[in-house]
Amino acid sequence: MRTLIRNGTVVNAGGALAADVLVDGETIAAVTAPGLFDTADRVIEAEGRYVLPGGIDAHTHMEMPFGGTFSADTFATGTTAAAWGGTTTIIDFAVQAKGTSLLSTLDKWHEKADGHCAVDYGFHMIVSDVNEQSLKEMESCIDAGVNSFKMFMAYPGVFYATDGEILRAMNKATETGSMIMMHAENGIAIDELVADAIASGRTDPVEHGITRPPELEGEATSRAIRLAKVTGAPLYIVHLSARHALEAVAEARNTGQNVFAETCPQYLYLSIEDLAKPEFEGAKYVASPPLRPKDHQADLWRGLRTNDLSVVSTDHCPFCFKDQKELGRGDFSKIPNGMPGVEHRMDLLHQGVVAGELSLARWVEVASATPARMFGLYGRKGVIAPGADADIVVYDPAATQTLSVETHHMNVDYSAYEGMSVTGRVETVLSRGSVVIADGEFHGREGHGKFLSRDLSQYLV
Ligand code: URP
Ligand code: ZN
Ligand code: ZN
Ligand code: ZN
Repeated sequence: MRTLIRNGTVVNAGGALAADVLVDGETIAAVTAPGLFDTADRVIEAEGRYVLPGGIDAHTHMEMPFGGTFSADTFATGTTAAAWGGTTTIIDFAVQAKGTSLLSTLDKWHEKADGHCAVDYGFHMIVSDVNEQSLKEMESCIDAGVNSFKMFMAYPGVFYATDGEILRAMNKATETGSMIMMHAENGIAIDELVADAIASGRTDPVEHGITRPPELEGEATSRAIRLAKVTGAPLYIVHLSARHALEAVAEARNTGQNVFAETCPQYLYLSIEDLAKPEFEGAKYVASPPLRPKDHQADLWRGLRTNDLSVVSTDHCPFCFKDQKELGRGDFSKIPNGMPGVEHRMDLLHQGVVAGELSLARWVEVASATPARMFGLYGRKGVIAPGADADIVVYDPAATQTLSVETHHMNVDYSAYEGMSVTGRVETVLSRGSVVIADGEFHGREGHGKFLSRDLSQYLV
């Protein structure tokens, strides 16, 4: 089966050019001057459209056990929603429960995901129990295609790791050439602030933001960076939300340390004002780190331009407003932490292009090429080039749409961006050469998505 995508503007991290793309089976066979090929089994007309490498969302949580419930998207519904939004690869997190092994955790996550995903997927491993066995098992995870390990400086008693435990895991990462991903918030201090708030009757969702001040994200980020420096481990700060944390990352990068960071669309577009919405509506915006005052947003956009922020992921972790966020009515600390977003990342970042915050090429770089490079997928994913998987998005930059729970495909009963009007729209999506989205319909199938065994030695450029 040969597919020709013709007359479009191919956008890679290196720039944009007018070109045709010939797909043969599951991979890209050629990127040529327009008009060189004129026949194929299927022709997709892309005049006036961008032809992009499929988005890579390196931070999602499907069916994640958290806060006494599970995030509402399954691997089937979540990857379908991802495809609608032009994301053709997700990297989700397998979550080690205390007292269990990393390998049994990985098996469990394969059971949840295998045969159910509409697009390709990989895993990171959340290490919540650092001991001899789990440190040893980090090696087996790497052999099994999982070479990135998330740890938490937040959530004491749940995922929290002490500085000593972090140090041990970082030493293992250095030894094995794997990556430590850090949730950098000072959870010990935060728990004190939360207890004070509850004790004095401050229980509304906005308190979630007030009790997790940006200084405590900055402090934890600096500490993680120092621990990484001492151990020689590369470090990837997840879901960076605050200027304070960005400053620490920039300083480390300026001295040549291997420190990287991602931010998320919610930190670029939403703020603590959303958390303060009345009638418990603020609960829809509870995620950690919390939404910040609006003035942090300009710094994050700048960080994206300077590459102190290298990746935009969603941290998609949806909980329904009605029966799940409800668990924290009267006590904000019991609101399940997380927000939906996997479907809207490409569109929301495109608003940055429209507003002049990002170039076209930088949009593709932070949304696809760099996450591919960072996590051992580049060449196969993250680029429109001969030999790459034919994960391709045909994007109409002139279309307009309004984001809403009425039209989104995520399995959650609200949109964090309800009523927001955006410029640009995903028109056609191919995953390994198969049409998944076209003419406003889903043509994919549960189980088409394959597990991606990742290997950092594949990062060749
Ligand atoms: O609030 C969030 N971010 N929930 C998902 C888990 C995490 O910490 O990434
Ligand atoms: Zn986190
Ligand atoms: Zn997360
Ligand atoms: Zn159709």
